[in-house]
Amino acid sequence: MTPTRPRVIVTRRLPDAVEAALRQQFDVEVSATDAPTTAEDLQRFLGQCDGLLATVTDRLTAEVLAAYPIRTKIIANFGVGVDHIDLAAARAHDIIVTNTPDVLTDCTADIAMMLILMCMRRAGEGERIVRGSRWIGWRPTEMMGRRVSGKTLGIVGMGRIGRALARRAHHGFGMRVLSVTRTPLSPAELAEFGGEPRATLEGLLADSDVVSLHCPSTPETRGMINAQRLARMPRGAFLVNTARGDIVVDADVIAALKSGQLGGAGLDVFRGEPKVDPRYLDLENVVVLPHLGSATLETREAMGFRALENLTAFFDGRGVRDRVG
Ligand code: DGY
Repeated sequence: MTPTRPRVIVTRRLPDAVEAALRQQFDVEVSATDAPTTAEDLQRFLGQCDGLLATVTDRLTAEVLAAYPIRTKIIANFGVGVDHIDLAAARAHDIIVTNTPDVLTDCTADIAMMLILMCMRRAGEGERIVRGSRWIGWRPTEMMGRRVSGKTLGIVGMGRIGRALARRAHHGFGMRVLSVTRTPLSPAELAEFGGEPRATLEGLLADSDVVSLHCPSTPETRGMINAQRLARMPRGAFLVNTARGDIVVDADVIAALKSGQLGGAGLDVFRGEPKVDPRYLDLENVVVLPHLGSATLETREAMGFRALENLTAFFDGRGVRDRVG
């Protein structure tokens, strides 16, 4: 008799190769609609599957995880950030949680570097002018942005992505790299990109031409970039966020963009996605992207295979590599 295969529910469509590999190992159900899940969907899934392959759009709150009965033993998150999952509630229900670190580092750092370039060099604005047939021709004073090479970049959060950005900025653009981070880097790690640690966020903000956020969303970091902190930055400095939307106070960032305190911003993430505060859209000095950090075929496949690896290890009774809760 063939042993029953663990039942895995996948909340959103994944790259074809990943779905095919999942089906080889598990009894798989993939969302037919690819629509964001509701609390009711998630509670139903938790009662129906042994493993839930979830992602950033699935809000696995304590209320959702209070579903009864729960059959799920593992939530394999497709993505590195797990702020949408109440880890304590998962633990209380004996559900282990894994994520997909490493594999999205380079592509997310690339998007952060791209946003630095786009907002400092006014690329979004320029593209809108050309597309809108409003370009009247080259002029010496036309659309002067700010030089990126040689400027000072402040990185908040020196995990894998922060460090990958530091390497790009330093070696590719000759930028000076300042950093603040929870876990201090060793001198050897800092030497990789000539990194200069700052003891406080305020100290970093005061000395940076552009600041890029790479910390997770936690009770400590939510709302961290507010009016007071923005006022510490040199007038006309730039802000880039590829981490999570709720790390910034939107009203304060918008006020700073309007007043010229911020010269521009590059945003890939938003509080309450896919909604975007409409006030951003009226501002020429903001580049907005739809959470594209990890959105390459190579990376999305690698994320899927990493989630698969975690599910397989768990159901084989082996140690799970990327356990976060
Ligand atoms: C993550 O992995 O947390 C990203 O936000 C999704 O790319």
